[in-house]
Parts: sequence; structure tokens; C-alpha cells
Amino acid sequence: MSISGSTRILAVFGDPIAHSLSPHMQNPALQQAGINAVYVACHIPAKKIGDAVAAIRALDFWGANLTVPLKEVVCPHLDELDADARLIGAVNTIVNDEGRLIGYNTDVYGFLSSLSIDLEFDPAGKRVLILGAGGACRALVVALGRSGAQELRIANRTFSRGEALAAEFATVFGETQFSAYHLDHNDLGRALDGADLVVNASSVGLKGNNFIGYPWEAMPQGIPVLDIVYSTSDTPFVATAKSKGHPATSGLGMLAGQGERAFRLWTGVEPPQGVMRQCLMSR
Ligand code: ATR
Repeated sequence: MSISGSTRILAVFGDPIAHSLSPHMQNPALQQAGINAVYVACHIPAKKIGDAVAAIRALDFWGANLTVPLKEVVCPHLDELDADARLIGAVNTIVNDEGRLIGYNTDVYGFLSSLSIDLEFDPAGKRVLILGAGGACRALVVALGRSGAQELRIANRTFSRGEALAAEFATVFGETQFSAYHLDHNDLGRALDGADLVVNASSVGLKGNNFIGYPWEAMPQGIPVLDIVYSTSDTPFVATAKSKGHPATSGLGMLAGQGERAFRLWTGVEPPQGVMRQCLMSR
């Protein structure tokens, strides 16, 4: 990669950030597309988000990605939020449009592209069980609601949080039925009845842990499983699902998909096909 006087700067902001896989997939994609830009990782604690957004303006960055814990707190600092980002209340991509900073949430696209590519799954008319009801869950709910899912069942450790999320989005996606479940053996058994897809949107698996008491025997035969936790080897939930005969994928495909969408928003061109995925899979 040769850096010149006109090289554009892209960055990912987060805390922690040194482990980020995004530079490892964005730089090869930029290079292969022949785009004179470089993608770097910046350690930005939440209390510095205002300064970091000001730096995008001052240094004329082309754009940025945001990760934990900045996706929500960045919103009030931007000039505009696209419709999905507003609904989700979180931004993972900023585009610097001649000084105007616009926030997007490309996790919606990343999730849908992984469902399609990794699991050949179309959510239209389907019943989906989501495990978890935190920040990461909101992008998935918007993706599934927009795609015309018939029913979203949200099972969360803190029942009231899942219930509140279901109630909030029931008013947004009138065609989709929402319900909340406890994250226990019996309630999950009920939630799995007739389900077409299970998504882990919780942080279970981040530290190598798995769900305790998950009713595998209640899983409809062969339904696909997507775990948004990303890992180059199978997450514990994905590994168990596969061992029980379910097609299953971790969040690597989603990570590549959200990156591809961000690339297109910044550069205006399609990223070279499959490059980001390959970079992640080969790590
Ligand atoms: P994120 O932005 O990654 O979604 P979050 O908003 O803190 O992070 O949400 C984490 C999700 O994982 C929540 O649904 C959380 O459940 P609670 O709402 O009960 O906190 C869930 N979670 C975290 N650790 C868990 C565990 N050990 N067992 C079950 N669910 C867990």
C-alpha cells in the first residue's frame, strides 16, 4: 500500500480496539479495489466521543466505523441519522459527506446478508427466536421486521427487558407478531415450537460460555442457527447446534457483511466480492 498526499483516512473507533478485525478486512479490500485510502483503528473511550467526532471533521476523515461502547453515544454528535440508525438508536458507520456527518447502521445489512449467504435463509413469513434483548439485538429486530418476518419471539435473561423491546417494536412493525419469553428451559421449549430460525444476540459465547439448560430436544429438526458472536472457530452455541444437525454460523459473515456495506457507503463502489470474508476466515 503506498500512502500519498491524497490518501483518504478511514477509521474504526472503540474501547478496546486493538483486537479489531476490521483493519484486516478493509485495507485489503481498499487495496484490491485500487482506492487510495487507509483504514486504521483508534482507541476512543466513550467520554472522548465528542472529540473523536470533531476530529473526523477537522482531519477530513472519509468516514468511520464505531464499535463497543460508542454506537449509541455517538448519535447526538452527528448531523443526520439514516432511518434504520434512528430506529435502532445506534450507529456503526459514519459517512463524511463534504463536512456533513451522516450515521448509518450497516449491521442490518450484515445480518441479512449472512442469513442469505451462510444459511440460505429468507426471513419473510418466518418465525424467529432471538436470544438476548440488548443493544446488539435491536439491529436484528429491525432487519427481521423490515424483511417481513411473521413472528419474533424474544427470550432474555431479564424478562422485562425483552418484554419492553417486544412492545417497542410491535408498534413499528405492525405486520410482525412480537412476544417475550424467559430464558429458561421450559419457556424456551415453548418459544421453539414451530420456530424457523434461532439467533443468539446475547453476549453468551463471548467468553467461551454456552447456554445452560438450553432445550435442544425442543429444536425443530434442521432449523438454522446464527450466533452473532464472532470467532474464527465455531462458538460453543454454533458447535453444539452443528453437532445436533443444524446448519449454523457464527457472526463472522455478519461482520464481513456490515463492512462491505460501510465500504460501499464511503467509496461509492462495491467492495471486491468475497475479499472481506476471505480475510476473516483465513485469520
Ligand atoms: P450488546 O450491546 O452486546 O447487546 P448488552 O446491551 O449489554 O450488550 O446486552 C447483552 C445481552 O446479553 C443482554 O440481553 C443480556 O441479558 P440481560 O438483559 O439479562 O442482561 C445478555 N446476557 C449477558 N450475559 C448473559 C448470560 N450469562 N446469560 C444470559 N444472557 C446474558
